[in-house]
Amino acid sequence: MKVVLAADHAGLSLKEALIKHLSEKKVAYEDFGTYTEKAVDYPDLAHKAALAVKRGEFQKGILICGTGIGMAIAANKVSGIRAAQCGDCFSAYAARAHNDAHILTLGGRVIGEGLALAIVDYFLDTPFEGGRHVARLEKISLLEEK
Ligand code: RB5
Repeated sequence: MKVVLAADHAGLSLKEALIKHLSEKKVAYEDFGTYTEKAVDYPDLAHKAALAVKRGEFQKGILICGTGIGMAIAANKVSGIRAAQCGDCFSAYAARAHNDAHILTLGGRVIGEGLALAIVDYFLDTPFEGGRHVARLEKISLLEEK
């Protein structure tokens, strides 16, 4: 599994903690930035990362902005991508098990590092359950055609 990471200036310090965490877990990642505290626009990063996931270059993505909300809204504009903003471990588990989310978004100004990294672990380690959830995801895909 390879994970793409991206954060705006509001998510930069949490991204740095996440990189250390993924390195310790031996999870392969690529960091799409940002790399400094200079303000940047989160839609640009979300779009670039979501497209790379859509192309199959990465199996998962983790995007961080101040709240995680803007990154989720932007990433979900890429058809076929399911991005979930999570602030707790159960949501991260369900985002994978039920929604087969490709991308996790986190709020760097909202949650502490310990909780954020626990959320990441649930997101990375939980498989999609399939079964009754498959038809529901197909209905979401159909919405993209309407
Ligand atoms: C940047 O100030 C902030 O608006 C952004 O990081 C994010 O929270 C948007 O959803």
